[in-house]
Amino acid sequence: MEHEHHYRWPHKDLLDVTQLSRQEIFHLLDLAANFQEINQRPVKKVPTLKGKSIVLFFAEASTRTKTSFDVAGKRLSADTFSLAKTGSSLAKGESLKDTALTLQAMNPDVIVIRHSSSGAAQFLAERLRCGVVNGGDGWHAHPTQALLDCYSLRQVWGEEFAGRTLLILGDIAHSRVARSNVHLLTSLGVKIRLCSPRTLLPAGLDSWPVEVCGDLKSAVRGVDAVMCLRLQLERQQAGLLPSLAEYATRFCLTPRLMELAKPGAKILHPGPMNRGLEISSALADAPESLVLDQVAAGVATRMAVLYLLATRKDGGTQ
Ligand code: CP
Repeated sequence: MEHEHHYRWPHKDLLDVTQLSRQEIFHLLDLAANFQEINQRPVKKVPTLKGKSIVLFFAEASTRTKTSFDVAGKRLSADTFSLAKTGSSLAKGESLKDTALTLQAMNPDVIVIRHSSSGAAQFLAERLRCGVVNGGDGWHAHPTQALLDCYSLRQVWGEEFAGRTLLILGDIAHSRVARSNVHLLTSLGVKIRLCSPRTLLPAGLDSWPVEVCGDLKSAVRGVDAVMCLRLQLERQQAGLLPSLAEYATRFCLTPRLMELAKPGAKILHPGPMNRGLEISSALADAPESLVLDQVAAGVATRMAVLYLLATRKDGGTQ
C-alpha cells in the first residue's frame, strides 16, 4: 500500500472536525480509500501498527463506533483493549481524570473515548501524552462519524461537494452527528437544510450556516441526499414531543417523500435506526440507502485516523 510517508500530520488528537483543514480532510479520506482496499482482501491484515496499543474507552453504549475502531486497529496489527463503564472502576465512582491517568500509565499510543459529557475527549487530550480520539461526547461532536459520512458521499459524488444539498432530518438538538456533519460538509461547500420539530432544534441555531425547514415535503424537495437522525429518547426531557406516532406521521422519511428529492438521491443514517419512526423500513433497505456503506466506510476511515495518530511523531512528521 502506498502512503505519503512525509505528510506532516499536525494533530496529536482528533477532537472535532473543526480542527481539520480541507487538505487534511482529503488526506485522511485518501488514506481511508487506501485502507478500504485492504478490507476487501481475503486476508485483511497488514503489519502497519504492529506494537502499537489502542485503548477503546467507551463509557456510553456503542455498536458501530466501538467495533469498527476495534476492527480497524486489529487490521493494522495494533493491540486493542476495551474498557466500558460496566465492569470498570468507573462504576465504583472513579473519576474521569483518575481513569485517564491510570490508562496513560500503561503507555498506550491512542485512546478512543466515548462519553456522555461534552468536552470529555478534550479533558483527556489536555492531560494525556498519547493521542485521543473523540468517539462521541454528549451532544457536542462525533468527528469520525462525520468523516465516514463524507467518505460515503464522496464515493457517490466524487469531488463535487460544492453546490450539493443535504437534508438532515430528525432530532438535531441532541445530535453530535448533526453538529460535526454541518461543520465538515459546509466547509466543503455542501448546503445543509435541517428539518425537525421546533422542540428538537438546538439553541443558538441562528449562528449555524444552515437553512431550516419545518415541513418535510418542502425540506426534501430537490435535495441530493437525506441524512435521517435517530430520536435520542435517552437524552430528551419529557414533553418535547406530543407522541411518537405524531412524530412519525410528520417526520418519518418514506419512499413517497423521497420522490420529491433529486433522482438518485441517497439516504444516510448514522445508526442505530428506529425503523418506522425517523425512517421507513423500506427506505432503510432501499438501493439508495448508504447505511451499510457508512458502516464499511467507518472501518476504513478509523484505520486512517488510528494510523495518523499512532504513527505521528512530535512535530508532526509522519
Ligand atoms: N453511529 C454511531 O455512533 O453508532 P454507535 O452508537 O453504534 O457507535
